[in-house]
Amino acid sequence: MSTQIAETAEPAATKPAPSPVNDVAPGGTTITDTPPESVKMKGVGVNVFYGDKQALFDIDLDIGERQVTSLIGPSGCGKSTFLRCLNRMNDTIDSCRIEGDITIGEQDIYDPSIDVVELRARVGMVFQKPNPFPKSIFENIAYGPRIHGLADSKSDLEEIVVTSLQKAGLFEEVKDRLEEPGTGLSGGQQQRLCIARAIATSPEVMLMDEPCSALDPIATAKVEELIDELRENYTIVIVTHSMQQAARVSQRTAFFHLGVLVEVGATDQIFTNPRDARTRDYITGRFG
Ligand SMILES: Nc1ncnc2c1ncn2[C@@H]1O[C@H](COP(=O)(O)OP(=O)(O)O)[C@@H](O)[C@H]1O
Ligand SMILES: [Mg+2]
Repeated sequence: MSTQIAETAEPAATKPAPSPVNDVAPGGTTITDTPPESVKMKGVGVNVFYGDKQALFDIDLDIGERQVTSLIGPSGCGKSTFLRCLNRMNDTIDSCRIEGDITIGEQDIYDPSIDVVELRARVGMVFQKPNPFPKSIFENIAYGPRIHGLADSKSDLEEIVVTSLQKAGLFEEVKDRLEEPGTGLSGGQQQRLCIARAIATSPEVMLMDEPCSALDPIATAKVEELIDELRENYTIVIVTHSMQQAARVSQRTAFFHLGVLVEVGATDQIFTNPRDARTRDYITGRFG
């Protein structure tokens, strides 16, 4: 998709907001437009601390099912921190403490009974820099299904590998060299390999933290196309510093600023008719 604002970076100027901006106190309640039709994950009152320093303040955010939600905002505003809360990746950071509730479906993902390894199969993650395992292309994909016991036989496993590569749009490019190292692929191919690796454990949600920032424009376009296809079957949350990318790939956009979720809404609305002055300043390039 595209919006006029994203291409011009001056959307608010051409289409002034009808309602007054700044209609909430800074740091006050998040402005939310109509919620997503079907909610896959939900954060309520999420506070995150690194030691004494608070990185996120009272975040309420619904993640719509089978659509792409983008998290945007200036560097250091807490986008990655929030993303990592969604599959408990912050558990790996000793100083990090999280308050509040995060659910997937009806399940509290911070409940002590939750198996974190299983959660991370359901809520997969793709990182900024492609990080294939130092193993063959085949083994990169087969590893997850094997440790999660998703394949009963060798042929089952082969089928998972092939279909995961197909879903990631990579199979045709690598089918003759599945035994070669994943690290030998180009950057864009490596990132699609990592997406295939996430797909292989049948996730419900895929988290992507600036997945294209290390890629050239052609590889970026391929990954964006892939994201657009994947949303038919998966719930996707993407952190991006590119507003153009957010406008192209996402249906909902959440704007973070200084650890606060300022505004969330339909991507078109956020980019053409932001309701908070901070959002407007950011999307028109006044800061960030
Ligand atoms: N592992 C960490 N230890 C301490 N502070 C961190 C850590 N990760 C992030 N922070 C701090 O939390 C804040 C939000 O960071 P982050 O979520 O990475 O922002 P963004 O992804 O929006 O750039 C920043 O002030 C950052 O310095
Ligand atoms: Mg980040």
